[in-house]
Amino acid sequence: MTPPGTPAIRLHDATIGYDDVPIVQGVDLTVGHGEAIAVLGSNGSGKTTLARGLLGLAPVLGGEVELLGSPVGRLRERGRVGYVPQRHTVSGAVPATVREVVSVGRLARLGLFRRLGAADRAAVGDAVAAVGLADRMEEPVASLSGGQQRRVLVARALAAQPELLIMDEPTAGVDAPSQHALAEVLARVSAAGTTLVVVTHESGPLAAVLTRAVVVDQGRISYDGPLAGAERGHRHDDAHCGPGEEPARPGYRLDQPTVAARTRGR
Ligand SMILES: Nc1ncnc2c1ncn2[C@@H]1O[C@H](COP(=O)(O)OP(=O)(O)OP(=O)(O)O)[C@@H](O)[C@H]1O
Ligand SMILES: [Mg+2]
Repeated sequence: MTPPGTPAIRLHDATIGYDDVPIVQGVDLTVGHGEAIAVLGSNGSGKTTLARGLLGLAPVLGGEVELLGSPVGRLRERGRVGYVPQRHTVSGAVPATVREVVSVGRLARLGLFRRLGAADRAAVGDAVAAVGLADRMEEPVASLSGGQQRRVLVARALAAQPELLIMDEPTAGVDAPSQHALAEVLARVSAAGTTLVVVTHESGPLAAVLTRAVVVDQGRISYDGPLAGAERGHRHDDAHCGPGEEPARPGYRLDQPTVAARTRGR
């Protein structure tokens, strides 16, 4: 366990990039245990790079990055951190069922080559039920829709019952009822003490859960404070708002333009 008072995340003057090209620069950020924060910002601002840097998936080129008291990449119990990546769906060459994919999330906590016990199977069942896919448990993931596959990835992360949960656009492509269901799940997880970091373009459905926001602008943090303040500051960036037109829903919203999925390095 981490010593008392150690933050869940600590970045000091951190630079994260790819191939020695800095993308996220000079970031100072401390997230305490149990906090629930939104990471906001326009397309290409560096949100995913920041999340991947925390996980050791994008190189830290300078400064300090610590997760649960350990320098990035050195955390031994990987299951303590859950991650929902932005772009991946889970279909692929290997035909795996919903149960199998979510069980892999649980194995991350146990360590590979350990068998799942009754409590683990229950955690897998709970995680799948939490994302509303209990009736699809034995179906191949490839047969699910894109939004359902996103929800399988959320369940995979939840199944490990991580101390820190980092989700990159968990609601993208997910319908409104499922977004609200996810908000309820995250509220429960947060109330149980899990630290949440949610990258999102649409904090509206999660506004009751996420209290603090960090806005990334061209690789730098331009705002760090209450979520409501970030919403006010960015409302008029919304490309879908005409002059004098208010967004239909409360909450930060910046729709992603339709772009072909990036293929580089993913
Ligand atoms: N694997 C990579 N290799 C090189 N450059 C990358 C890679 N991934 C992202 N970038 C670059 O880093 C910058 C920030 O990208 P990033 O994916 O972090 O933005 P984002 O804020 O998550 O955007 P979005 O809202 O579209 O998800 C972009 O200019 C992008 O081209
Ligand atoms: Mg992104």
